[in-house]
Amino acid sequence: MKTTKLLQEADVQEAAQIIRAGGLVGMPTETVYGLGANGLDPAAVARIFEAKGRPQDNPLILHIADPVWLERYCRNIPQSAYLLADRFWPGPLTMVLSRRSNVPNRTTGGLDTVGMRCPSHPIALRLIREADVPIAAPSGNTSGKPSPTTAQHMLEDMDGKIDAILDGGPCSVGVESTIVDLTCSIPRLLRPGGVTLEDLTQVLGRVEVDPAVTQLMKAGDRPRAPGMKYRHYAPKAPVTVITGPAVRTARYIARRAQAGDGVICFDEYQDLFSKQVVETLGAAENLEEQARRLFDALRAFDHTEAAAIWAQCPDCKGIGLAIMNRLNKAAGFHIVEV
Ligand code: TXA
Ligand code: MG
Repeated sequence: MKTTKLLQEADVQEAAQIIRAGGLVGMPTETVYGLGANGLDPAAVARIFEAKGRPQDNPLILHIADPVWLERYCRNIPQSAYLLADRFWPGPLTMVLSRRSNVPNRTTGGLDTVGMRCPSHPIALRLIREADVPIAAPSGNTSGKPSPTTAQHMLEDMDGKIDAILDGGPCSVGVESTIVDLTCSIPRLLRPGGVTLEDLTQVLGRVEVDPAVTQLMKAGDRPRAPGMKYRHYAPKAPVTVITGPAVRTARYIARRAQAGDGVICFDEYQDLFSKQVVETLGAAENLEEQARRLFDALRAFDHTEAAAIWAQCPDCKGIGLAIMNRLNKAAGFHIVEV
């Protein structure tokens, strides 16, 4: 049944009412669309897990309208959190901090920490302010699918399962927020995103990169961000990621891809793939554009007959680390270095 209302910017009040009443609202952010509910209401939060088919132990991020809200939900906040908030909030950064007891177990998956983010999308900020509660919001996809970067993509996954989606246009960053854990003795990058490792290092000095960012989790491993152990971002067809200099990765794919296979490539190389189904990411040097287009590209193959997907991958500088991480996860870390 198609019951999800598509709301526009002028309807923020209505969306805020739904949140306050315990309902679910698709919310635009600068990174990806989120599936929002009142983060202090365990019953509302339970509905998020149900709509996404999300494992119960995978905690949710709380979205706040102003950095001063941090102290309402977190304790023992280190100085580094304020430095990061000054520099990168509102924006695509989530900080893991010790939580206060008013944050329900349902929201944090039973952890004594909570992920906090102040998004920069103006409609998200207005929605949180109007609702006047922290909004718990995972990415608005069905669990395991690529995150939605438009209201239409979110509707594909969530129509009939949630009350409304607020349309705020396409997302400007395109991959989810950077997650940094500030409860460790050395700050730890749990998920790369729009705020780069280089950005974080400038403010924090030393930052450790969690092994789950670059490697496949082995059976029995317990990653610090529970979500990192699940298969993610995956189109229906298997994905192979090719890393190395762009000219070489393009040639490698051109030699192996069958007619009808899917190819994700940089603009410069699309002519090599006239027999394949091609999704371009942007110019080889334009990492921001690649990040914006990545999830749409992964989603697009589900509407085709492609039996296998090959992807060129940028190197790990800047937001390239986030692109590489999402591609590797989509591929189940099936990576070829050339
Ligand atoms: O950009 C984003 O962060 C988007 C938008 C909607 O804000 N949200 C998002 O949420 O990507 P989600 O739930 O799809 O991804 C959050 C990740 C999950 O892997 C989860 O396990 C991890 O953050 N996480 C949440 N709370 C955590 C905590 N307290 N400690 C460690 N990891 C946490
Ligand atoms: Mg997600």
